[in-house]
Amino acid sequence: MCVANDSFTSADKQMTASLKKPNPVNESRDEDSVVVTSQDSTAIDTKPLPEDAQPAIRIADFNAFYGAYHALYDISLDIPKNRVTALIGPSGCGKTTLLRWINRMNDIVPTARAEGKISLADLDVLAASTDVVDLRRQVGIVFQKPNPFPKTIYDNVAYGPRLHLRISRSELDDLVEWALRKAAVWEEVKDRLHKPALGLSGGQQQRVCIARTIATGPEVLLMDEPCSALDPISTSSIEDLIYELRKQYTIVIVTHNMQQASRVSDMTAFFYQGRVVEFGTTDQIFTRPDQKQTEDYVTGKFG
Ligand SMILES: Nc1ncnc2c1ncn2[C@@H]1O[C@H](COP(=O)(O)OP(=O)(O)O)[C@@H](O)[C@H]1O
Ligand SMILES: [Mg+2]
Repeated sequence: MCVANDSFTSADKQMTASLKKPNPVNESRDEDSVVVTSQDSTAIDTKPLPEDAQPAIRIADFNAFYGAYHALYDISLDIPKNRVTALIGPSGCGKTTLLRWINRMNDIVPTARAEGKISLADLDVLAASTDVVDLRRQVGIVFQKPNPFPKTIYDNVAYGPRLHLRISRSELDDLVEWALRKAAVWEEVKDRLHKPALGLSGGQQQRVCIARTIATGPEVLLMDEPCSALDPISTSSIEDLIYELRKQYTIVIVTHNMQQASRVSDMTAFFYQGRVVEFGTTDQIFTRPDQKQTEDYVTGKFG
């Protein structure tokens, strides 16, 4: 796989240095050694955590509710850093709920409640004292349907940096270019930066939304079915982009497309009825699943 935009400017490197903690770049995609442990051996398959796979997000004994409805049961997952983790499973099994708790979007749902722990390095995500604005700068989210603001392309990408960073106009210009290059859409929009983002195609809008998300320097990108509203060519460009971005970001992607999960992810968690049935390398989940339910789902027998 390749990404159209491979050569970043020196501004790119400076921005990377100034916005992100240095992340180890690991390009060896085909190694099979990336496995992650569960804390809950009754719920999922437990495998040793190899030394090179550090957890970026640790989810332990996590339960989520909407009022009396129990949406997620005893979820324990270590999401590895600088890898792509796919969440798969039939509709309604709680994938979006988990993403929405990782960046505390469920705070705005009055009936939503959670128990257990989600940690991002030393940060206790669910603690009442956690600064949610700062958390969302570190954990960006990209939705199913591209949702650019009704503003120009430039203003969409500059939105977060204007809120969070005190930078000059020329630094902001560099940052907007950097983010749009990183999102592999710069060449397509560089001559229309001050035109409405809503005038772009769906695939371009989604890449502008990804640029908007990475412009604030997150470490984690959550993607909830980011290609489901896109045509196959746009889907392919987003998949290439995800593959490229994993070098610097920890990515968690929900997808109903099994080919997509197997193409873009390193790890896969199979959810069913609010539980994680199995979590392992994507290769293992798709070719040697331990659980019959996983095998039935990935081979299309249900769901
Ligand atoms: N805001 C909400 N209020 C009540 N129930 C909800 C809400 N959001 C989701 N649910 C329920 O929680 C369950 C899990 O939903 P969701 O996380 O969206 O699943 P998925 O993303 O896997 O399709 C579903 O039964 C859904 O109806
Ligand atoms: Mg969903």
